[in-house]
Amino acid sequence: MLKLGVLASGRGSNFQAIIDEIEKKKLQASVELLITDNPDAYAIERAKKHNIRHLYINPKESASRDDFFKKIADELKSKGVELVILAGFMRVVKKPLIDAFPNRIMNIHPALLPAFPGLHGQKQAVDYGAKISGCTVHFVDEGMDTGPVIIQAAVPVLPDDTEDTLSERILSFEHKIFPEAIRLFSEGRLEVKGRKVLIKDYPAISSNIVNPPYRA
Ligand code: GAR
Repeated sequence: MLKLGVLASGRGSNFQAIIDEIEKKKLQASVELLITDNPDAYAIERAKKHNIRHLYINPKESASRDDFFKKIADELKSKGVELVILAGFMRVVKKPLIDAFPNRIMNIHPALLPAFPGLHGQKQAVDYGAKISGCTVHFVDEGMDTGPVIIQAAVPVLPDDTEDTLSERILSFEHKIFPEAIRLFSEGRLEVKGRKVLIKDYPAISSNIVNPPYRA
């Protein structure tokens, strides 16, 4: 059984999607620990409801960012975590955590990377006038949303979309591809070769492909 550690800063709907897949036994994994950088994160309520250990680490109480991520790495290691899940964790991860879990940290980003990295990926897509956006699960390296891509799903950006309506459409796919990526990892089917993540025995077209809504 794959031991997960989850980092979240807010609502935690992706965290919930992972919990649900585990409880439905579609994902052979357990969440050993939730760590938040925000004492008011709703993700904490979700952890309580599902009897998952949770811990708030105040970034301001760390001497440096590296120190903050060292604390996180130590907590995760002490619980035997094998894969770290960034489920709406709104900080760029620093070296002490990356070095402790090489190619063992996954992030979900609400855009088709390398387009629209950083904050507000959905708003960036709307403002840019993109016709297709989506979400990306990737391994985390030291850059901002730059690590090797595992899976992506595409959704149309409709002419009347706002940040909120596009976010909602993308989120429903986040909840599908994040547990899916974790499942592939848990089955030992992911191999990182440079920038490429090879998936063993996987169909060539693996995610949601859409046509743009051509309309005058
Ligand atoms: C999700 O849309 C996730 O993709 C995004 O934050 C939201 C968290 O929602 N993450 C980022 O923007 C990371 N740069 P959730 O707390 O309900 O899972």
